[in-house]
Amino acid sequence: MVTVLPSLGVPKRSLERVWTIVVAAGSGQRFGGPKQFEGLGDRRVVDWAVDVARLASNDGVVTVLPAGSAEPVVGLAVAGGPTRSASVRAGLEAVPSSASIICVHDAARPFATVALFEAVIAAVNAGAAGAVPGIEVADTIKVIDDLGTIVATPAREKLRAVQTPQAFRADLFRLAYASDAEGTDDAALVEAIGGRVVVVAGEAANRKITTPEDLEWARAKVVAS
Ligand code: CTP
Ligand code: MG
Repeated sequence: MVTVLPSLGVPKRSLERVWTIVVAAGSGQRFGGPKQFEGLGDRRVVDWAVDVARLASNDGVVTVLPAGSAEPVVGLAVAGGPTRSASVRAGLEAVPSSASIICVHDAARPFATVALFEAVIAAVNAGAAGAVPGIEVADTIKVIDDLGTIVATPAREKLRAVQTPQAFRADLFRLAYASDAEGTDDAALVEAIGGRVVVVAGEAANRKITTPEDLEWARAKVVAS
């Protein structure tokens, strides 16, 4: 009998075959350049993301790089597309059909932990179509129209700011990406085909590097640790 303990990710004897797509093909418009190749401690930002993905994925990792990039990465790499969804789609083509759970992780998030991967993988292993890390929002969030007029104020306790890694049952994930749908995260595409995606506790340190200030914060954190 296999004993499945909660929050331990893939049980040791599970048959799940986990692949992770690390998306690193963005141009970093808000940062002012491809931030994923900036140095952070002894490695580049992308290396932090790939390293944790490799520790957490029992089958493999594919990294999606800008088309024509000469940046080296450990393991399998493919060229991305003009949008994040196009880059995920390119990465998915390199994931073997034997994968049973597919995770997607932003190269721009250097501080996600193996435990966070394990938490989203465990939720899919337990039956969800997908699982994403989310944290409570501190600010009140407004929905506005094109003119900037507020049209709704969702109850703050029902809102979560979501992160990567996001994990999905592989067949549903492939179905979600079979069209040319676009989204700012992967869960949105799985939600759109009716998949049940759950939120697990995210990590405050799992901040996405978006601006130069975010990289300064990350470098200070590495120096301090
Ligand atoms: N990404 C990608 N391919 C794209 C766009 C984004 O692989 N065409 C990746 C980025 O490299 C990043 C992650 O998706 O690791 C999250 O995207 P984001 O933080 O928006 O990065 P950029 O798109 O590069 O930044 P910006 O939106 O400021 O241009
Ligand atoms: Mg972007």
